[in-house]
This record gives sequence, structure tokens and C-alpha cells, in this order.
Amino acid sequence: MAQTSVARLAIEGGTPIRSKPWPAWPVWDEGEIEALASVVRSGKWFGPSGTQVNAFAGRWAAYCGARYAAPCTNGTQALEIALRAAGVRVGDEVIIPPYTFIATASSVVQVNAVPVFADIDPDSYNLDPQAAEAAITGRTRAILVVHIGGCPADMDAFRALAERRGLVLLEDAAQAHGARWRGQHVGALGQAGTFSFQASKNLNAGEGGCVVTNDEDCYLAASSLINVGRVPGGQWYQHGLLSGNYRMTEWQAALLLAQLRRLDEQTARRNENALYLARQLAEIPGIAPLKRDERVTCHAYHLFIFRYDASAFRGLPRDEFLRALAAEGIPCSRGYHPLYRSDAFRVDAATHPFAGARDYRSLYLPVVERACDEEACWLTQSMLLAERQDMDDIVAAIRKIQATRSR
Ligand SMILES: Cc1ncc(COP(=O)(O)O)c(C=O)c1O
Repeated sequence: MAQTSVARLAIEGGTPIRSKPWPAWPVWDEGEIEALASVVRSGKWFGPSGTQVNAFAGRWAAYCGARYAAPCTNGTQALEIALRAAGVRVGDEVIIPPYTFIATASSVVQVNAVPVFADIDPDSYNLDPQAAEAAITGRTRAILVVHIGGCPADMDAFRALAERRGLVLLEDAAQAHGARWRGQHVGALGQAGTFSFQASKNLNAGEGGCVVTNDEDCYLAASSLINVGRVPGGQWYQHGLLSGNYRMTEWQAALLLAQLRRLDEQTARRNENALYLARQLAEIPGIAPLKRDERVTCHAYHLFIFRYDASAFRGLPRDEFLRALAAEGIPCSRGYHPLYRSDAFRVDAATHPFAGARDYRSLYLPVVERACDEEACWLTQSMLLAERQDMDDIVAAIRKIQATRSR
């Protein structure tokens, strides 16, 4: 009887659970158009002579509860700037997680330092503080944590560790706009933190980045590095450092100020839907949303990540499960590969002598390997902007696939 009541999967020609589209991203209205038009009308299109970049710096610092914010071109360059501004030098080792976007690692190589991968926590997929501690050597200069998917890493443990071992603590908060750890916004919980405002991000100007910090020296160094090494407050052609031009444009800042109007409301909605969805998914055997530490007072939910256990789906491989889910109208992806397995990490010793000296091929970190190859499933932030009943479609599609597999 159970056999006849199970609906045919959409991937096998059945009717999908959902044909309604998910919310579009980005969200915008006349406010964004007017913000850009007013920059055109002002005739001031260049950050240093305009008003928008400055205004955004002040707003973003205040939003993050940080003393300073230094806007720049994108999140990748924000990381390079933060590493240099925080004092990471040639040949220093920087401990990073392997479960992140490549910029977390490539930025370390770009400043001629050495990325050292430590494994992730199986419940949060964030850098594991114990694994990070075990990776410390006499050459370690910094720990660069990533708040993956917008979920704050264990900042109590990392702050204590950095203090105990005399290390610089940096945060890659590219995915964590508005996230809070014990009530405090992420970004300036260590020496400095970075954000991305790239198109997919929860605060978006197509491209953009920012360094935030409470440390005045770090801020002045970051400001100089962003502005071709100019001396902050100095003469126009006075350069104290060799650096590139990483200035944010007035257009980016105007869009960010307009987008910022919606960030709190969108974050609240993502949290409501994500918590509801997590409760429903936790009831399904073989589906386990990542755990949310109770000290995470606000999760940015750039991603909603859950873990898949094929044994509860009669051995259906994760990637086939994802294809079946997509056919049901639920786009969901497998996400990252362990970064150290990327071809890019066959780093050329001639170009990057320090990073090139390391052989990443022999590395095997079991938690990240399992996460990437078998478990991880990602839903994107914009799906969480739908209605609560739309979350039920996700649950129904997974249940449908499971029921079909148990026939
Ligand atoms: C964790 C992480 N770090 C850094 C970046 C780099 O940001 P951007 O794309 O703005 O250079 C991203 C963006 O995808 C990211 O997700």
C-alpha cells in the first residue's frame, strides 16, 4: 500500500513539489535608482572628493559596533589589506580553515605569507579552535577565522587562543553581515575583519569590500594601503607605503547605503525562516542542519547548510539527492571542495616562494573531506526571504525523495 501512495519523483517524470519561483536577488526599488542618480547629478564620482564612501564608512563602522571602517574594492582585496595592516609579513604562517571561498587562502599567498589549513568543526563547519591550536608553529603570526555561511565561529575560544599564544586574530566576515556573537557584531572581535559586498552577498553593490577594526594603527595602515600608500591626512603626492589602488567608488557606496535600509529586516526574516526550517528538517532521518551555538545571537544565514546522510536514503549519493531535489523545484548545491585540494594550491614556488615551499598534496583533514564529499547541502540566503509556507516545500521535497527511496 505504501508503494502506491508514493508520488513519482520529478526527476523521473513526476510532478515537482514546486514550480513557483524563489525570491529574486538583489532586492531594489526607486531608492537605489535615486541614490545612483544623485551621484550622477553631484558630478562627484570619485570617492575622495565625494560624500558616499565617507558616509558609508561611518554607517558601516557604527553598524558593526567598530571604531573604524575602511571601504575598498572587494572582499578579496579587503583580506589582503587586513593581513598587511595587521602586520602579517613575508613568510609568516596564517592559520585558516579549508572550508571557505578561495580568497581566504589566496589573500594570504598574495601577501607572501603561508596559508596553513586546520580542520573544521563537524557541527558548525567553522574552523575548529583545537585544530587551529594544534597547527601553531614558531612561524605562526595570525589566525584568520571565517564565519561560514554567516554563522559566527567560536570567538570566545579564538580570542582566548590568540591572546594566550600572542597571535593576531582576523575575521573573514564576507558572508556574515549583521551576524552577532554574544550580542556583538562580528568583524571587529579580533584585530580586524573584512566584508564582501559582491552580488550574492546579503549586503550587495555588485562588488565591494570593507575592513573594520577598533585599532587606530590598523585602520590608518588599511586606509593607506587602499589609497596607493598615501599618508592618511598627508599631502596628495605623499606616499608612505607601496600599494595598489583599492578605493571603493561613489557608485558602490551609494548602492550600499540604499541596500543597508533593508538589511535588518531581511536578516530577521532569514532567521525566522531558517529556525523554522531547521526544526522541520531535524525531524527527517538522515538530515541534520548545522548546529547553531547558543552564543550566536544573530546568524546572517548567507547560506543555510544541512548535512545529508546517504544511509538514511538507501545509499543515494549526495549529488544524486541534490539533482532530485533541484528537479522538485528546490535549488540546492554541494558547495565547496577542501581548498587545499584545489589545483590552485599546486602553488608555483617561483612565484610564491613561501607558499610554494609547502606541499599541500599530502594534506588530508577528515572533517572537511567528509563535509565536502558526502554531507554538505547549501540553500542560498534569498530562498530564506520567501514565506514560511515556502519552507514547507523544501521539507516536502526531501521527504518525497526519502519516501521514494524506501519503496
Ligand atoms: C568567505 C569569503 N571570503 C572572501 C570572499 C571574497 O569576496 P569578493 O568576492 O568580494 O572578492 C568571499 C566572496 O565570495 C567569501 O565568501
